[in-house]
Amino acid sequence: MKVTVVGAGAVGASCAEYIAIKNFASEVTLIDIKEGFAEGKAMDLMQTASLNGFDTKITGCTNDYTKTAGSDVAVITSGIPRKPGMTREELIGINAGIVKSVTGSILEHSPNAIIIVVSNPMDTMAYLVHKETNIPKNRIIGMGGALDSGRFKYRLAEALGCPQSDVSCMVIGGHSDKGMVPLIGKATRNSVNVSEFLGAERMQQVVEDTKVGGATLTGLLGTSAWYAPGAAVSELVKAIALDSKKMFPCSALLEGEYGLNDLSIGVPCILGKNGIEKIVEVSLTDAELTKLQESAEGVKKTNGLLN
Ligand code: LAC
Repeated sequence: MKVTVVGAGAVGASCAEYIAIKNFASEVTLIDIKEGFAEGKAMDLMQTASLNGFDTKITGCTNDYTKTAGSDVAVITSGIPRKPGMTREELIGINAGIVKSVTGSILEHSPNAIIIVVSNPMDTMAYLVHKETNIPKNRIIGMGGALDSGRFKYRLAEALGCPQSDVSCMVIGGHSDKGMVPLIGKATRNSVNVSEFLGAERMQQVVEDTKVGGATLTGLLGTSAWYAPGAAVSELVKAIALDSKKMFPCSALLEGEYGLNDLSIGVPCILGKNGIEKIVEVSLTDAELTKLQESAEGVKKTNGLLN
């Protein structure tokens, strides 16, 4: 499998690193507009291959999309990241133009690529790719839910005082501070509902901390996070590479699922060699469904800024 990662900044480099370390792809191509930058990151990462024990070949190039030809998957991380105090939605003006042009260049050289969208505002950028390309909807995947679920797991494990491997949980809805819907009512510790271990107040705190997970890190780091976004992308790419049929919440184009239409938003998806192979409609409580609908309204409002 060949994977292109567009944008060799912190998030893009982290994607390349985790994909390589997991050793399932034959090649990762990093591409960036900054002269020599992707080449440098690729070389630095390649010098970890013997140390970290991977065989994936990582190459870098400056804005030369011919080098991305034949990619099975393309990850779009390019655009500006948010600064402390900024919402993801505020990035739309600059990032929409970048995502549009990058997607065109990718598809010119890899017409069959599955596109994973990371650039923010992520749900709207995934919707933009749908609108601009008309490629089948199974080939456009917004990354946010896998990341947000990783953050939810971290917060729940912290509250439960247990390893994250004990926890199973999911965040659906939009990838925004207000739009995330952590499904706390369905979260378990080894199949036991977390409400048997945590009081209502503590559970609500976990939900709130999860929703501002990205903003908390932006405040601490001065820019947006990269390790967990990179790791989340690598898991999605791995599920595609191995055709594993693993379920992740991803931003997918909805056509009636959950009563929603004409937007891309986080819902549980089965990932395999064809990208999103199925959107899973899990039963939601009335309260969860209302939150998802409110989240969808927020995403649609941001989509409305595209023109
Ligand atoms: C975050 C960015 C990648 O949540 O959206 O860290």
